[in-house]
Amino acid sequence: MKRKKRKLKLKKQAYFLFAGVVAVIVISILGFNFYKRIEYQQTDEYKLIEKGYTLEQATILQGKLSSEEIANILGKDKNDTIVDLVNEKYFLSKNLDTYLEYHEEEAELSLSDVVAVVNVHAYQNWYETILDSDPSLNERVNVNKFYALSSDYTPENLKNISLDYSYGNEGDNKLVDYAYDAFIDLWDAAHEEGFYLMVNSSYRDYASQEAVYNDYKTSLGERRANEIAARPGHSEHQTGLVVDMTSTTEPNAESFSDSEAYKWLQKHAHEYGWIERYPEDKTYITGYSPESWHWRYVGKDVAKVIHDEGITYDEYYAFYIEGNQ
Ligand code: DAL
Ligand code: ZN
Repeated sequence: MKRKKRKLKLKKQAYFLFAGVVAVIVISILGFNFYKRIEYQQTDEYKLIEKGYTLEQATILQGKLSSEEIANILGKDKNDTIVDLVNEKYFLSKNLDTYLEYHEEEAELSLSDVVAVVNVHAYQNWYETILDSDPSLNERVNVNKFYALSSDYTPENLKNISLDYSYGNEGDNKLVDYAYDAFIDLWDAAHEEGFYLMVNSSYRDYASQEAVYNDYKTSLGERRANEIAARPGHSEHQTGLVVDMTSTTEPNAESFSDSEAYKWLQKHAHEYGWIERYPEDKTYITGYSPESWHWRYVGKDVAKVIHDEGITYDEYYAFYIEGNQ
């Protein structure tokens, strides 16, 4: 009888022990889940979803933006345009607020245009902000309506372009030596295809550019002058990396765009490191009317990207160089 009682007591104890262990396990699991839930609620993903973004959108935003930038988005109403902007190829997170403001102002512009215009600073008036061009970048230096060279900047190692390749007088035309070599490669390749390219203008120092700009300003008025000539300091001609060229069969710059030589250059110049700097339909990015004659040396790798992606040097610089600084 006593033995039976003891057995029952032991059984009871085992049962309580078991129940206790089960309770501890259950409480631990619940506690762990609760802790995990609290922890998840601190994440950007949770906060974005709470804001109304889908999981897919939250993943995209987190992939492209820093926590600080997400905090900025969380301070705004849910906005699908933000996700569309982030998905743009040339999106730069530092410009997000400016994209949104500019998109509000210019509602008819596509988002890719908004991104391009903001990236190259052209959401401002031309020349409104002036930044320093960096000649230490050599063939990657950017000179445009927002980037200027100093008045005393003169490139090193300028080399004469002989009258075999240029109009005017001996010594009128010069290029930086490495751009000169690349020009001869381009010239030879064009010549093999039956085109005879001729340089009309190349390196221009600050004072010569001032004279060019002022002449246009006097004869055509400031508005037109700004469409066709750079203000001194803002001309790529001061880099020694540029040629204005036409061909012997089409020497007139204004009709060079109709020539076969121009079409050949459009297809092949990048193979030698040259790009068309002010293309058709890009005035809103470059600030200049198209110039089929103005070709800029940027090196083969950069020229290939610009050619293949159909962008201007301004856009290239803004995204691939300035964007990474
Ligand atoms: N015509 C180009 C824009 C210049 O003056 O540099
Ligand atoms: Zn030019």
